[in-house]
Amino acid sequence: MTTDDELIATAWEVRENAYAPYSNFHVGAALLAGDGKIFPGCNVENISYGLTNCAERVAIGAAIAAGARSFEKVVVVADTAQPISPCGACRQVLAEFGVKTVILANRMERVEFSLEELLPRASTGILDRP
Ligand code: THU
Repeated sequence: MTTDDELIATAWEVRENAYAPYSNFHVGAALLAGDGKIFPGCNVENISYGLTNCAERVAIGAAIAAGARSFEKVVVVADTAQPISPCGACRQVLAEFGVKTVILANRMERVEFSLEELLPRASTGILDRP
């Protein structure tokens, strides 16, 4: 069984690889798939700013490319005073792949949300297709 501590440790580790020369804001993520595999991701910035990929979406991309299709939770870490919270785009992408739980951590604390809390009614309509 993968523990939240393991996911958080993975997220801190991959945060070291963040490519964030524009914001200098380094983020790490660790995505837990249904079969127990962990997919790490870090933010990958671009000079256009708009083409920046957040750590969460990089983790999702790596997992999908590796063939994973079911997911339990994602951990996101940053060295901030308050744990950070995923942007709207990432919430939508996490909803696309049925990620249920989002754990946000800084050096001192962790907070847990359901994705439903962060993006209510995501599966109503568009994702709730026949
Ligand atoms: N960022 C993430 O990677 N994940 C988040 O949840 C929030 C923001 C990144 C995007 C950008 O590279 C930098 O943090 C500043 O917004």
